[in-house]
This record gives sequence, C-alpha cells and structure tokens, in this order.
Amino acid sequence: MQTLTKRQKQILDFVGEYIKKSGISPTYEEIKKRFKLSALSTVHQHVEALINKNYLIKNENSSRGIEIKKTIDDFIQIPLKGTIAAGQPIEATEERETIAVPKINLPETSDIFALRVSGDSMTGENISDGDIVIIKSQSTADSGQKVVALIDNCEVTLKKIYKEKNRIRLQPANLRMNPIYVKPENLMIQGIVIDVIKNITTELQAEEKKVVQYKELPLNKIICGDCVDTLKNLPDNSVDMVVTSPPYDEVRKYNGFSFNLHETGKELFRVLKDGGIVAMVIQDQTKNFGKSLTSFRTIVDWVDNIGFKLFETVIYRKYGTEGAWWKYRFRVDHEYMPIFIKGERPAYFNKEPLKVPSKHGGKVMTGSGNRKTDGTTTKTITRQINAMKCRGTIWDYLNAGDKNPLKRKHPAVFPDKIPYDFIQCFCPKDGIVLDPFVGSGSTVVTAKQLGRKYIGIDISEEYCELSKERLKTVNEGLFDKLK
Ligand SMILES: C[S@@+](CC[C@H](N)C(=O)[O-])C[C@H]1O[C@@H](n2cnc3c(N)ncnc32)[C@H](O)[C@@H]1O
Repeated sequence: MQTLTKRQKQILDFVGEYIKKSGISPTYEEIKKRFKLSALSTVHQHVEALINKNYLIKNENSSRGIEIKKTIDDFIQIPLKGTIAAGQPIEATEERETIAVPKINLPETSDIFALRVSGDSMTGENISDGDIVIIKSQSTADSGQKVVALIDNCEVTLKKIYKEKNRIRLQPANLRMNPIYVKPENLMIQGIVIDVIKNITTELQAEEKKVVQYKELPLNKIICGDCVDTLKNLPDNSVDMVVTSPPYDEVRKYNGFSFNLHETGKELFRVLKDGGIVAMVIQDQTKNFGKSLTSFRTIVDWVDNIGFKLFETVIYRKYGTEGAWWKYRFRVDHEYMPIFIKGERPAYFNKEPLKVPSKHGGKVMTGSGNRKTDGTTTKTITRQINAMKCRGTIWDYLNAGDKNPLKRKHPAVFPDKIPYDFIQCFCPKDGIVLDPFVGSGSTVVTAKQLGRKYIGIDISEEYCELSKERLKTVNEGLFDKLK
C-alpha cells in the first residue's frame, strides 16, 4: 500500500475507529466536523486519495458508504435486544434487530447480545445515554461487575452489583444518583457488560464542547472564533475591563455570523475580575415604527439574570455627519452605552481624564444658595468657576470614521475616542482590556496606544486580519503624547 499524508492517516484512523465503535461508517459531514475542515470538497479530496491508495472502498449509493478495506469476516452480527435503563428501571422491551460488531475482543461464545442504553446513571463507567452495551448472558456476577438486572420480574436496569448482608445493592456510577436495594429473591441477573460501543454523535458533540482553558492568558492577541466558545477558554477573574459593541439586531450582516448576547454576558461576567467593568455600545433597530428594545432587554437580562450591576447608562451623541433624511421618523443621533460592574463597585475609577470644559470656567460668579430639605436655602456665595468640570452622562463623539482607511473597511465601527475614554477611566495602568466583538480593532488599538494589555475576539477572519493590520500601525503611548 502507498504512503499517506498526515491528514489522510488521521482520517483513515477516524473512519476505522468510528466503524469499530458504531458499526457504521461516518458521513462526509461528520469527517468535516471532526477535523474542523472548512469545506466538504476537502473531505472528498482526502477520501478520494485514500480510495486511490487502496485504503478505503466507497459505496456510491449510501451516505455512509465508506469502508475500510477489510473483509466481512472481521465483524460478527449479534442481536440488539432493546433498550436498557441506566437510570430508573424500565419495563423490558424486545426488539428484533442485529448489529455488526468487530469480532476482536469478543469471547468465543454465542450467548452475546447488545442493548441500547437510556439514561445517565452509568456515566462514571463511561456508559452514556445512546451508547450500546455488549452483554454476555449469564445468571451470576461478582461484586463490582456491571450487570443487566431484572427486578421483580418486570423491570430491567444497568447497574454495578454489590452483595450485602440480606440484600443486593445496585449501584449507579453517578454521584447524583442513589443505589437501589433489592432482596436477592427479587433479582435476576441476565448478563454482564463486556464492552461498550460509544454513540459517536454524542462523543463528537462532547468533544466539540470540551473546554481547554489557556494556561497563560493570550495577551496582546486577536483570536478568531465565536466569542462565547473562545471566552470559555479564558480563566475566571482574569480581565479588568471590556469595551465592546455587539452586532445587535443583525442591523448589518457582518458576513452572516450570529451571536448570543446572554451567553456572552455570562462568560464576560465569569472572566472579569471583581470590580471589573463592561462598557457596551448598543442601539435598537427600528421596524414598523417600533424599536426592538434589544438594548433595554440586554441591560435587564444582564442585571437580573447574570448578576451585573448597572453603574450608568451613558448616551453616546453622534455629531459630524449629516445623516439621512427620514420621512416618517427622527434621525437617530445617539446610541446607548450601558456600563456594567461585576461586584460592588468599580475596582478602578479615574474620571480626571474625562473632565470637560466649564462654560463659565475662570469667571467669578455668585450663585443662588442650595435648597435644604426643610425648604430653606443656604446663603449665596461667590466662587470662582473651575475651568474644567465633571463629565455628565451625555458624551459627544465625532462620528466620521477616524479618517482611517483601514478602519473604513468595517461597516460598523465606533470612534476610537470611546474606548479611549472608558479605558482611562476604568482600566488600571497595568490592566487587561478585552473586546469579544473586536471588528476593526478600535478597542485593542486604543488599549495598545494607552499602554494596556489587550485581547480581541472576532468570528470573522477578515476582521481579525483587519484588527491585526491596525495594531501594526500603532505607536504605543501616542495618545499620551497628544494630550
Ligand atoms: C459592531 S461590530 C464591532 C466593531 C468594533 N467595535 C469596531 O469599532 O471596529 C461587531 C463585530 O462582531 C463580530 N461578531 C459577530 N458575531 C460574532 C460572534 N459570535 N463571536 C465573535 N464576534 C462576532 C462581527 O464580525 C463584527 O466584526
């Protein structure tokens, strides 16, 4: 036989394992999923190559038509007798199917049958819902063996058996479940488990969900992937602040990707340090004269169901562009910027850089006295008005794309000045800023300019590359020099 490439060998092994475990071959789609290949055509190419090299055979009339070049003698047909409960005992059911299992590992006896497992009481023994167990018929078992137990002549269950004084304990392999105790005369052992054929679909799903957390934070990196999946890889309590703008209401099509704001909120809450902040830029879509309410719903959901505190909702007022003329509604020139805290209070808060000029700065003015709670007023005083004052809750930003040709390649950016303000106010000097919807990279670019560490995530490869391009052009500390 001819030599194989690394990928061909991996696919061949996967097909072999799959057939061994499930008795059928995988579909092309399953192979694509398993190896995270981008296109089915790539799977076809690999399978064709394996056929040409004489490792696989293909049956054109079946979606599961790939076979390893093995003879039929390698398998044996055994009866699949029905479903067994790995949970509460259920009434025994009879089916008249057969299943092909690899001969290897089977004892030389004809008293073998298979049962499909239902329930999760045996997960501790790697027997899960949907798996098939291979049973050797026998009426006795040693303590600790996995048995098919018939109770009161009507219900069967799959459990580990332990003989105790005057009773039999049928023990689940699942800490959440209690044992069943039966009198010896009420129990009949029908067989013992000798092998398990894993349900490959649930195995693949579990494998897909397996979360491997980063040993070290991927600092100053852009990660391409779904934000919820990627955030799962980040450790708890590791990030100081998030500045982001989700693709709400599918207003723009961002290459057709979808997202889940509730799950994103849950993961952000987990990865934030105590006192960490999420600053979000969000608006509602208008449809048939009504607003979608996504922004309000998200705020309520994140506070009521996820555990954030709403520190403030700032209005981002846009200026600098003419905007369209809307015949039947107002021209919307604002977005919302809810600021969420994890924990009691912001771990870092420095609003000095956010101060705004006072209209009457430098003048000496005599104001009216303050009104007291009993209705009387304090004496008026003369005071000099400071040149700068505390910023309010309406923040104005020039909305003209930052005159950056790279940034213009993205359809929905926010001005760099937004993360610039938030980061200075809420992120400590050595802190980490995260943007799970990084887009053109406005947040990470600004974090880098302000000397903070950053992590950016975007599902679109195109936008990840765009962020990386922008990051290359950044002069760390540039903003500080401009101030
Ligand atoms: C409003 S844009 C962010 C723009 C960014 N604030 C900027 O100034 O460049 C939203 C981004 O979310 C990305 N996105 C959509 N679904 C996603 C998902 N499930 N996971 C990660 N990113 C996603 C889109 O590709 C898009 O780039």
